[in-house]
Amino acid sequence: MAFYCYILECADGTFYTGWTTDPQRRLRQHNLGRGARYTRDRRPVHLVYVEPQPDRSTAMRRELAIKAMPRRRKQRLAASDPPQILVTATAPGRVNLLGEHVDYNAGPVLPAAIDRIVSLVARLLPGRLVRLEARDLRQSVEFDLDRLPEKRDLKGKPLPDWALYPAGVAWALQEHGLPVTGIEATYASNIPIGAGLSSSAAVEMAFAAVWQAIGGWQIDPLVLAQLALQAENEYVGLACGLMDQFACTFGLKDHVLYFDTRSLAWEAIPLPQHSALVIADTGIRRSLSASAYNQRRAECEQALALLRRKLPGVRALRDVSLHDFEAHGNDLPEIIGRRARHVVSECERVEQAVQCLKAGDAPGLGRLMLAGHASLRDLYEVSTPELDGLVDLAAGIDGCWGARLTGAGFGGCTINLVDAGQVDRFMQALAEGYHKKFGHEASIYHCRASQGVRTEQILLGI
Ligand code: GLA
Repeated sequence: MAFYCYILECADGTFYTGWTTDPQRRLRQHNLGRGARYTRDRRPVHLVYVEPQPDRSTAMRRELAIKAMPRRRKQRLAASDPPQILVTATAPGRVNLLGEHVDYNAGPVLPAAIDRIVSLVARLLPGRLVRLEARDLRQSVEFDLDRLPEKRDLKGKPLPDWALYPAGVAWALQEHGLPVTGIEATYASNIPIGAGLSSSAAVEMAFAAVWQAIGGWQIDPLVLAQLALQAENEYVGLACGLMDQFACTFGLKDHVLYFDTRSLAWEAIPLPQHSALVIADTGIRRSLSASAYNQRRAECEQALALLRRKLPGVRALRDVSLHDFEAHGNDLPEIIGRRARHVVSECERVEQAVQCLKAGDAPGLGRLMLAGHASLRDLYEVSTPELDGLVDLAAGIDGCWGARLTGAGFGGCTINLVDAGQVDRFMQALAEGYHKKFGHEASIYHCRASQGVRTEQILLGI
């Protein structure tokens, strides 16, 4: 759910400040006399300012802060938004239930978009200027759409890391021949950065969707996701696969997405009834992730090249059956063999997990998740002691069917499949167990499988 603070200009010239999840609907309510006692007698009211917020409590605090501002400052905020169309976008993070580190091996994945989002408000600027504000980082930057390959701001300084994602999206859209316009955009996010929940794909897809809406063009959403991936691969420099951008685009409430990264076919499958998803965040952020991640990908490519000598028909590791791997995998160098064994067995686990999901077999799915974690820990070596600790603890708590690290690893979060009736008790037991074992807190929260990226238009000043 997105949150916004807004300012209305009332018929008597005074300002009214509020927070909402839907500025346009709220404006209608105020004008129908159902918004607030203050506005009821001062109609019609006009929306003159909208600002995205990462969550409800920040929105409520910001509302109070704006309310306490002298009129002059409110006027300045309103003047920054003259009559025009604003485009808002919300783009979710994701968890992945199974199929980790297989999307760049053409394998199948099982992600779900979650109710943690990037929310973005943008408006058209004349010319080629992009002016960005990342509210939660308290940083802003300006760059020129005609000089994107330089990766520098208007003053010639290298773009900060966070700005490479929107700049990369603009670059990829332009490379594809799509018109990209100057914008002023401000965004906020409640997806923790570097936690394996795909905050970067959410930023990419939010900007891709905004440029599409403001530019008035429309392309296949899967192609838009692929262009965002191109931004991440070629502009940011992470050799990731398509899973994150895909999940952020096609997320569906209460569903897991079964996505074949080779054929690009996909299917939404309901989560088992009475099951709940719980995220447990170690608080440890990935370090050196780009180099370690890219190294894993290179190891997979090496395994593929060696296996193809014996299995010439194979185009990606996903094509190697477990049976063929048993016959030829032992000839691979030790580390390369372990990496490939993870990929081959993980692809197999995803297919089994789909059967479990279709049969509503939560315990079966949970067992596959635990096996997936062991494989990431022992064969792919992307886990950490804290992630392993969380998974071991979770597996011993009643009501938990399965747990595993989610995303790239090297820190970040676990995803837990839990009996919906036992969520609170599970979260408490896991928090206590983790604190006892590691001496610091894990942040643990219930999340819902949610819808993918959305844009909306808001009319200001009318
Ligand atoms: C990151 C990448 C994805 C995927 C996962 C691991 O999230 O962005 O493409 O490779 O790691 O499954």
